[in-house]
Amino acid sequence: MERELALEIVRVTEMAALSCARWMGRGRKMEADDAATTAMRRMFDTVNMDGVVVIGEGEMDEAPMLYIGERLGTGSDPKVDVAVDPLEGTNILAKGTWNAMAVVAVAPRGSLLHAPDMYMEKIAVGPRAKGRVHLDATVAENLAAVAEATDKDVSDVVAVILDRPRHAKIIEEVRAAGARIRLISDGDVAAALNTAFDDTGVDILFGIGGAPEGVLAAAALKCLGGDLQGRLCPEDEAQRARCEQMGIRDVSRVLTLDDLVRGDDAIFAATGVTDGELLRGVRQIGKSRARTHSLVMRAKTGTVRFVDAVHDLSRKPLSWPN
Ligand code: FBP
Repeated sequence: MERELALEIVRVTEMAALSCARWMGRGRKMEADDAATTAMRRMFDTVNMDGVVVIGEGEMDEAPMLYIGERLGTGSDPKVDVAVDPLEGTNILAKGTWNAMAVVAVAPRGSLLHAPDMYMEKIAVGPRAKGRVHLDATVAENLAAVAEATDKDVSDVVAVILDRPRHAKIIEEVRAAGARIRLISDGDVAAALNTAFDDTGVDILFGIGGAPEGVLAAAALKCLGGDLQGRLCPEDEAQRARCEQMGIRDVSRVLTLDDLVRGDDAIFAATGVTDGELLRGVRQIGKSRARTHSLVMRAKTGTVRFVDAVHDLSRKPLSWPN
């Protein structure tokens, strides 16, 4: 993949973010998600690539756009896999709170995990703790490993966890180990990403979230030199069968970072929709301009680029939702 593709991909996330930011705090997450998905889909049409969605908005019969298997781009080379989340944090945006983002990862064909839209158990850390944690280790062991790797006491390690009843045991174990916790309402892509940036104040992500979010976060952490391991969590026989159809023979296996994102040629882009620790949300400037803040990275070079862009909305190919 040529490096220019990175800039094309960030244009895609910018457009998705600009479109759905109009819905901030309006309590209508479906409309917001539609706006992001439509804009992202349209922008992909302008990108020179032969892409296929390997994990994203769901299956063809449940997602009108950006469904698994959908072809994206102009059809010219490079041939790539695409993972998408046009609006990561639909509830966040509906309430106007922290860390909603538009997110895309692309990698050479055959490199990204091809899996249904289902749950995945995850553990994620930044570069210093890479290779020191394991999904099958105990919570206490992983926290001790992170403490050692980051030169902290366990009591200073902060675990970020989605605030869900299913995480009660993990939360209890983190507390018993003496570490601290940041519970989040939604948005585990941002949470995983944050573990790789010291000043965000979190060191390790634990818990179960979406599998597409897992692959997207894995692409980001591959670029950043961090680590993410996952295990798919089928909820029924149909999901198990669908995994098998997609080539995943042992569903219970721990998927390493290299299983989630093979090789080192991934591109990850995210644009803030609402404010977060790492990215600012979309800012409207007067009636016809808006400013976006994005992160775009390439695993091959490890370049981490923050892109601050001002858009002239009167010249964008979008009609804004009311
Ligand atoms: P959506 O944008 O699809 O609403 O996802 C938000 C999110 O919090 C993800 O970050 C996370 O992986 C997933 O939902 C967790 O799922 P659930 O809300 O079902 O626990």
